Amino acid sequence: MRSRRSCLAVPGSNPRFLEKAQGLPADEVFLDLEDSVAPSAKEGARKNVVAALREGDWSGRTRVVRVNDLGTRWTYRDVIEVVEGAGEFVDCLMLPKVEDAAQVMWLDTLLTQIEKANGLPVGRIGIEAQIENARGLVNVDAIGGASPRLETLVFGPADFMASINMRTLVVGEQPPGYTEGDAYHYVLMRILMAARMHDLQAIDGPYLAIKDLDGFRRVAGRAAALGFDGKWVLHPSQIEAANEVFSPTQQDYDHAELILDAYEYHTTVEMRGAAMLGDEMIDEASRKMALVVAAKGRAAGL
Ligand code: GLV
Ligand code: MG
Repeated sequence: MRSRRSCLAVPGSNPRFLEKAQGLPADEVFLDLEDSVAPSAKEGARKNVVAALREGDWSGRTRVVRVNDLGTRWTYRDVIEVVEGAGEFVDCLMLPKVEDAAQVMWLDTLLTQIEKANGLPVGRIGIEAQIENARGLVNVDAIGGASPRLETLVFGPADFMASINMRTLVVGEQPPGYTEGDAYHYVLMRILMAARMHDLQAIDGPYLAIKDLDGFRRVAGRAAALGFDGKWVLHPSQIEAANEVFSPTQQDYDHAELILDAYEYHTTVEMRGAAMLGDEMIDEASRKMALVVAAKGRAAGL
């Protein structure tokens, strides 16, 4: 699986940002044709994105293009122009505001046709599906199973809050007056369950107050603690924080490796299913939990 701790949004209509993004240490970069691009700039943005993919240096990063949603008139041309123009340089397309499985199947079919017509390997380009409204969330289990191209489910908090009439203007923070818990818990868990059911990654969306790095860390930490794999970043200052928050601490990583070693020793040498590690009892389930932390730590180079 690709690492996606930090997923950097770059407006396709801004050549300066497209250039600058190439030097930044985000795990994923997504070149946007959707909401960060004004309607009058959509066509120019496609050309910028194709040129940036072909000519830019994106090595080491997952290269994604977000196309417009299927309620618009732009989606099919976004897909055709990007994949015909730079298909070999694209890892995934991101489809926003996905409402049901059929929308993902539409994209899968269109991709297959473009790949066949252009001599590209069929099925290599993946799909990221954004869950951004009530319909998408209610259908998320089916959406997650809609195509073998799917790699991630991505929460879109801004559109989501608008779609359910949540009474707030601040993305990612609790709505004013809501003091009893976490207004995002259900949504995040719902997306996470669907993602895990289909072996997909789960990615949290943007935090718009880009000057508030503490707020970013707090909100990113909430998703990371649940098991999310990463989060969008809108500004270079958020990248390092995301990479850190979505990697285990060195201490947790070392502990996980210790559990794996101890478990291995006890099950193979001493032939016991459960054993003590210090004051802690470990068994097969502990091994599985340790594997999760160890895998994330190894991916982060700890
Ligand atoms: C992202 O697309 C969002 O709506 O939050
Ligand atoms: Mg959105």
